[in-house]
This record gives sequence, structure tokens and C-alpha cells, in this order.
Amino acid sequence: MIITVTLNAAIDKTLIVPNFQPGRRHRTVEQGTLPGGKGVNVARTLKRLGIPVIATGFQGGPTGTRIVEALTAEQVLSDFVRIREESRTNTALLDPTNGIQTEINERGPQVSEQEVELFREKLLYLASGAAMVIFAGSLPRAVDATLYGDLIRDLRQTGVTVAVDADGEVLQHAARSGPTIVSPNRREAEELVGYEFSGDADVELIDALGALRGLGPQEALITLPDGCAAALREGNGIGITRARIPHREALAPIGSGDAFLAGFLAARYQGRSDADALRYAVACGADSTQRLGAGVVDPDEVARLSDMVELMQLEPDVAAA
Ligand SMILES: Nc1ncnc2c1ncn2[C@@H]1O[C@H](COP(=O)(O)OP(=O)(O)OP(=O)(O)O)[C@@H](O)[C@H]1O
Ligand SMILES: [Mg+2]
Repeated sequence: MIITVTLNAAIDKTLIVPNFQPGRRHRTVEQGTLPGGKGVNVARTLKRLGIPVIATGFQGGPTGTRIVEALTAEQVLSDFVRIREESRTNTALLDPTNGIQTEINERGPQVSEQEVELFREKLLYLASGAAMVIFAGSLPRAVDATLYGDLIRDLRQTGVTVAVDADGEVLQHAARSGPTIVSPNRREAEELVGYEFSGDADVELIDALGALRGLGPQEALITLPDGCAAALREGNGIGITRARIPHREALAPIGSGDAFLAGFLAARYQGRSDADALRYAVACGADSTQRLGAGVVDPDEVARLSDMVELMQLEPDVAAA
């Protein structure tokens, strides 16, 4: 079983509006509503890939009830802590004529200390029967940025594999608590190391992976628009790999990083090789860009795309440069 943690679960509404212009009245030509939040997206991908998963986190009010009901309709198991305030609704507006996406995220609910404590207990309970726990996305308003980090420390005794997809201060704290793996995107990794990558230079990626691992995680992935860079355990050492996939015109880019992480962990859960896991991860990310709804993938298409992913082992002398 894999547990996904979504402390800011939401209802994500996607509106397709051709020729969107601020200040004008528009009609949608298509629209969709799905429960979301990064951990929920990861759970959706895992479910579609046939991996047993339970989504946990916070949910509240009528929107919270809707999140749970919609997950049930997707046959995604969930076990959330019910909170007093209402879960949020996020709106994404996609203009198909130019591919531009505008997002409006509501301010999320406030969570009390007592609710956080209830969650901690629930998570420890769920994790005791799980192989992996995935923390993904932002924290609720007014919750301490150390929360993922604190929970990860609590989980250490269980021996469960812990993955984190977050950014900024939350990622810093989480990384320091020693999770198994972190998977920021390029911008998040740049923020963490404190400089922008100048292009496709392997040296910069190797440095960034080193800086990420230096904070505390055993392994690190950085997603890139054309694939990823990975520092993964190999025997007693660390192997560094660059994965690439041909660019595809994206229909809905949101959630590709969530599908990527789900793909990687799904392959690991099944005991497949790291090379396979990287191919599968990048293929999940790429396929998800072709579908409306964050985390939606087609397993047959993912298998086909996996064969198109090229892997390159980065040389130790490059690493030393
Ligand atoms: N247009 C595309 N064509 C092919 N692959 C893509 C495309 N866009 C994204 N991907 C793949 O999806 C994976 C994740 O991408 P990205 O770095 O954009 O995630 P992200 O920024 O974390 O996204 P989000 O946070 O919205 O989930 C990468 O491995 C990348 O190769
Ligand atoms: Mg991401």
C-alpha cells in the first residue's frame, strides 16, 4: 500500500475558454471538475497504474465532502481528517488557442493544532501498514513550515519509504528530516540551490542534485521540461542519470510532476529497476500533459512512451568538474 498526504486537498475546476481575455464575459466550451491537491493527483495516477493507494490529509465543509465522494467515484480509497473549516476550490482557465493557462487558487482553510494532532495519529496508523508515504504540495495556511519535517521524523521508526514533492521552506525542512527521496521541478531546485541553471549543462544538474542530497534526503530527482535528472542509490554509492523524452505539445501541463512522481514510485513499488522507474516516471509526466485532469494517465500509452525515454549515465569526471 502507498499513502499519499494532501494537507491542502481541493476541488479543481478546469474551464476551457477559447480566446480568453480579462475583463470580458466568456462561455466555456468544455469543463471538468476533479478532486485535487498534489497528493490527490499522485493517488489518482497510482490508482490508474494499478497500485494500491490510500489518500489522506484534511478535508472540510461541503467541498470536503465532495472531495471524498469524487475520490470514491474514481475508486480511490481515502481516509482524511475532517476539519472545521471548508476545503478550497481552485479554478484553472485554459485557452486552447494559445495554450495559456490561468490559475486562481482560493485561500485554503485554517487548520487547528488539534486537527494537526489528529492527522499525525492517523498518518502513523496508516503508515504502519504501508510501504511508502508521499508528501506532496503546500501546507495549510498558518501551519508551521516544519510540519512535513516533523511528520517525517515521526515516520522514521516505521521504516517506510518517504517521498516529498514540495518547495521553498517546506521542502528545506522536509529534506533536513531525512526522507528517502525528494522530487522538485527545475524552478524549485533552482530556488533551493540559490541560482538559476543556465541551460542544459549536466554539471549544474549534478551540483543541484548534490546540494539537494546534502540537505538530507538519500536520493533526489529534478524534473525538467524534457525529462529529469536523478541521483539514486547504486550499491554503496550514488548513480547519476539524465532522462530525456521528445517534447509533446501539451494540452494540460498541470500535474505532470505529480504523475512523474507517481510513476517513479509505482515502478519502485513493483520492484522494477531504477532505469525502468525513470523511464516510467518521465512517460507518466509526458502522457499526463495530453489529458485534462491532473494525474490522469493511460497505462497503455505510458508503456508505449516509456520506450521513447533515453537514459544517459552522467560520468564521474563530469561529476567532479
Ligand atoms: N510537453 C511535454 N512533453 C513531454 N514531456 C513533458 C512535457 N511537459 C512535462 N513533461 C514531463 O513531465 C515531467 C514533469 O514535468 P515538470 O517538471 O513540468 O513538472 P512540475 O513542474 O512539477 O509540474 P506540476 O507541479 O504541475 O505537477 C517531466 O519528466 C517532463 O519530462
Ligand atoms: Mg511539481
